[in-house]
Amino acid sequence: MRNWIALIIASVVALAAVAQQPTVPGQPFYDALRGTTPLNEEATPPAMLQTENKDVIRGRAYAQQPPTIPHKIDGYQLDRNANKCLACHAGSRAAESGAVPVGISHYTNRDGETLGHLAPRRYFCTQCHVPQVDAKPLVANTFAGLEDVKTQGAPQKAKK
Ligand code: HEC
Ligand code: HEC
Repeated sequence: MRNWIALIIASVVALAAVAQQPTVPGQPFYDALRGTTPLNEEATPPAMLQTENKDVIRGRAYAQQPPTIPHKIDGYQLDRNANKCLACHAGSRAAESGAVPVGISHYTNRDGETLGHLAPRRYFCTQCHVPQVDAKPLVANTFAGLEDVKTQGAPQKAKK
């Protein structure tokens, strides 16, 4: 009798172990970044896209967004010795270069004081400003920025 009970317990444990085995999904694996390459293999990266160089200022998705760079920046030196961006974007160069001068915020330090020169925290421009490529977004996005003028659902005027 004791043997029978032991056998039954053993087979229940064995069945539970089988049930816990990971199951292979029925559908083929697909990921927006990896494509169909399985997780344990390295995907061949797609060819790099060309930087967009249309020289047309892009809209901003939200009011505080650092504008994206509408031109190529290949080979522009940007290190502790030189800042090529300022050759065109410094306030003193804008008239000559036709570039948008850096905003007043770029002369303000973190205590809100406006300095007489570019704030050190704004020196490395590409920390915030980046060129773009014409790539399809990998995920959908429904973000909506501010409206210029409120047209719908404006609060009703109080009745006199
Ligand atoms: C040879 C001059 C020149 C240099 C160097 C240059 N830019 Fe520009 N940049 C321009 C001009 C001109 C525009 C106006 C749009 C255009 O013609 O591309 C512009 C536009 C921009 C804009 C868009 C501004 C806006 O209001 O939307 C950003 C951001 C920008 N540049 C950042 C940079 C950064 C960062 C660097 C350095 C990596 C840089 N630029 C180097 C000339 C230059
Ligand atoms: C810490 C982030 C940051 C860094 C670093 C930075 N910027 Fe900006 N930049 C911004 C933001 C945010 C804005 C938009 C709001 C504003 O004008 O301050 C902006 C705006 C601009 C504009 C548009 C100004 C206008 O009036 O439309 C230009 C041109 C620009 N930056 C160039 C530069 C250059 C050139 C550098 C490097 C010398 C630089 N920025 C460094 C964040 C940054």
